[in-house]
Amino acid sequence: MTDDATRLITELTAIVEDFPKPGITFRDLTPVFADGPALRAVADALVAPWVGKIDAIAGVEARGFLLAAAAAYSVGLGVLVVRKPGKLPRETISESYDLEYGSTSLEVQPADFPAGTRVLVIDDILATGGTLAASSRLIERAGWQVAGISVVLELDALNGRAALPGRDIHSLQRV
Ligand code: PRP
Repeated sequence: MTDDATRLITELTAIVEDFPKPGITFRDLTPVFADGPALRAVADALVAPWVGKIDAIAGVEARGFLLAAAAAYSVGLGVLVVRKPGKLPRETISESYDLEYGSTSLEVQPADFPAGTRVLVIDDILATGGTLAASSRLIERAGWQVAGISVVLELDALNGRAALPGRDIHSLQRV
């Protein structure tokens, strides 16, 4: 299952030079999302290692949302949304993390799932790891458990795993 997903990711990902700024090579996954069989293969492969061991799937705004929703639908679980600041209407908790310039934060609503919920966290790309580290801290502060992390692409040069010590990380493709 993962082999099919990895082949389709390789075939369909669009490499865009100098985006969003000169010197950056951007890997655009929208052609993967646009292809029905590829989206299904990727969603299934993201969740496959954790079937039967998780209670919910977290998606990180924004591209993580669509992957988490597809994966959750395929295994009959619900989605936990990890949102950018100021979007969630009820009581939230927040975690800050560093960007290249400055910082930002992510939020969850602890009332959305019961304590002890086992969560698979899904996002499109693991780069520096800041986003997934903040998401994991949030999930634990909310009283839930991080069962694992799944991403479509892992950018090895940025060593995001170093920001996620002890986490069980499944990436469909490493570049
Ligand atoms: C991108 C990507 C990951 C994050 C990875 O999100 O979707 O969430 O960066 O980077 P990191 O490992 O260095 O933290 P972005 O903030 O661009 O948000 P978007 O999905 O809303 O475009």
